[in-house]
Amino acid sequence: MSVHQNVKKITTHVLSAMKMKGEKIAMLTAYDYSMARILDNAGVDIILVGDSGANVMAGYNTTLPITLDEMINYASAVTRGVKRALVVVDLPFGSYQGNSKQALASAIRIMKETEAAAVKLEGGIEVSESVSRILSAGIPVMGHLGLTPQSINKFGTYAVRAQDEPEATKLLSDAHHLEELGCFGIVLEKIPAALGKKVAQELKIPMIGIGAGRYVDGQVLVLHDMLGLNNEFSPRFLRRYMNLFEDITNAVQQYITDVRANDFPNEKEQY
Ligand code: KIV
Repeated sequence: MSVHQNVKKITTHVLSAMKMKGEKIAMLTAYDYSMARILDNAGVDIILVGDSGANVMAGYNTTLPITLDEMINYASAVTRGVKRALVVVDLPFGSYQGNSKQALASAIRIMKETEAAAVKLEGGIEVSESVSRILSAGIPVMGHLGLTPQSINKFGTYAVRAQDEPEATKLLSDAHHLEELGCFGIVLEKIPAALGKKVAQELKIPMIGIGAGRYVDGQVLVLHDMLGLNNEFSPRFLRRYMNLFEDITNAVQQYITDVRANDFPNEKEQY
């Protein structure tokens, strides 16, 4: 029997065993109780309360405005709906870059107030001190390299990262560095598939890709994108499993028609 079928609760140790056995890890984002319950029941391994909530839940153009309080609100709703999956929460922009003491304080708030199992933060060697300090408090940390959306103002575009040799070399060395510090996994966002493959082969901890090709140890997508709730975002890496924007529009239009025609409620739908 495969590792993930054999466990009642996904832990960082289970993820490591899955990588060792060559079992791919399935991760999705969620920001609320109802969706988290569905994802957990469906058997997803990791639920990420991503700061992409800034875009898909709050309507901001970037992930920068979301606050630690808002992330904690989303995350505590998510954990109430989850029994099996590992819940990871993004440390939002401004909650860990100041210094490692601030990073630890933010991570502790997340762990205390949400009952999540781990935090994620963006960056490599630049965030080592924060990563070490959070880990020293017994809080599992996931890294995030490649396209790191909190640095969009430095990058200037959401284009594929690490296409040239110097950036690819830095990414590989950052990944090794995060592994040596003790991170349990790393998200690799929007990088060439060949680089994703190399990093996944060289490192022992799982590499979870989003636009990082098929050779990494698992995949993550933003839930609203894969369900087609958002019909304006269609990068090459996105596979849409539903078209909820259209389905919900049709359902709501049918409801409006029914109400206007006095067809809803009917005799059976009233007391
Ligand atoms: O915030 C998020 O949803 C993420 C994913 C894109 C991995 O970090």
